Amino acid sequence: MEIRQNYSLRAHNTLGIDAQADWFITYRSLEDLHLLARDEYFQECRCVPIGEGSNLLFLTNFHGIILFSELRSIELLGEDDQHVDYLVGSGVHWDDFVQQMTDQGLGGIENLSLIPGQVGAAAIQNIGAYGVEIYQRIQAVHTFHRRTAQERIFTRDECAYAYRHSLFKEPDYEDYIITHVHLRLDKHPSLQLDYADLRERITQRHSAPTPADVRREVIAIRESKLPDPKVIGSAGSFFMNPVVEASVYEALREQYPHAPHYPLPDGRVKVPAGWLIDTCGLKGYRLGHAGVYERQALVLINADGQATGQEIARLAEYIQQQVQARFGIHLEPEVRYIV
Ligand code: EPU
Repeated sequence: MEIRQNYSLRAHNTLGIDAQADWFITYRSLEDLHLLARDEYFQECRCVPIGEGSNLLFLTNFHGIILFSELRSIELLGEDDQHVDYLVGSGVHWDDFVQQMTDQGLGGIENLSLIPGQVGAAAIQNIGAYGVEIYQRIQAVHTFHRRTAQERIFTRDECAYAYRHSLFKEPDYEDYIITHVHLRLDKHPSLQLDYADLRERITQRHSAPTPADVRREVIAIRESKLPDPKVIGSAGSFFMNPVVEASVYEALREQYPHAPHYPLPDGRVKVPAGWLIDTCGLKGYRLGHAGVYERQALVLINADGQATGQEIARLAEYIQQQVQARFGIHLEPEVRYIV
């Protein structure tokens, strides 16, 4: 375990916001967590576990404890003719795990290539891309309760997964620290190629595509649209894609017959937030040091590395107002604000 005081979080959030944490604690084992849970200060203090901070916006300095996982084991739990099961530490870098799996020819998570962040955060956030969400592969989530020191395993059903949502995002479950995620991969993968851009690239280049081929193409698409967080600070998609009633979508379609949209099984329609923001003419827009990325309007950036959390939040609010005024649609941030 490592404990640091007055610690800059700049390297721990992909937006590159220079906020300070009163305490920054790195844990490397379950024993570390048990040790911490016996500490009264730890029990009472505000505490936020973070991964690589790829979905966080620090609005100001953080008064409390930031808890960082270095649980980095990848344990083979078992296999049969069809599947292989792994128990993966919450501190494993997600994309390293994806690469290891696709290198072995195992399938199921290749569409989630190059998503920044750690395994624990991926399970909380239910990361998704190109028609796949991580929950489809999650068998169980192993946790540690920071007040009661109890270890508890949540089955996938108990995790209440939905679009970019899980139980662990709800206030009542904030004290559960994710330690490991049990994931199931396919030995004979059936590739998910519903996303038109991906399907096109795959059919042009590969006659018998493998998960590794899909990974390569997903990486190429992402690199063409999304900024590399190591070069330009961002948190990926800043807003969730809003889901609207069919009537709202019909009204939208009258004005914009070619508006992209995804019909949902319940009759409602998901509209890409990126398109809404773009149509408001905001691509490339700047507000102080914060900006809207030129190649994908859903991505807010720390344009010159000097943006504060407040500036990014002000830009987000301005975008929400513009989209609301033009389309009557509310955009909900996907990024979590930390005060
Ligand atoms: N669009 C525009 N202008 C823009 C951006 C998008 O017109 O500036 C249009 C595109 O042409 C397309 C549609 O909006 O018709 C959707 O855009 P895209 O395919 O780029 O995907 P997205 O809806 O913007 C979502 C996820 C991404 C994920 C991609 C691919 C959310 C909030 N975002 O983006 O996830 O990689 O689909 O599956 O669901 C993330 O969560 O950080 C993330 C990057």
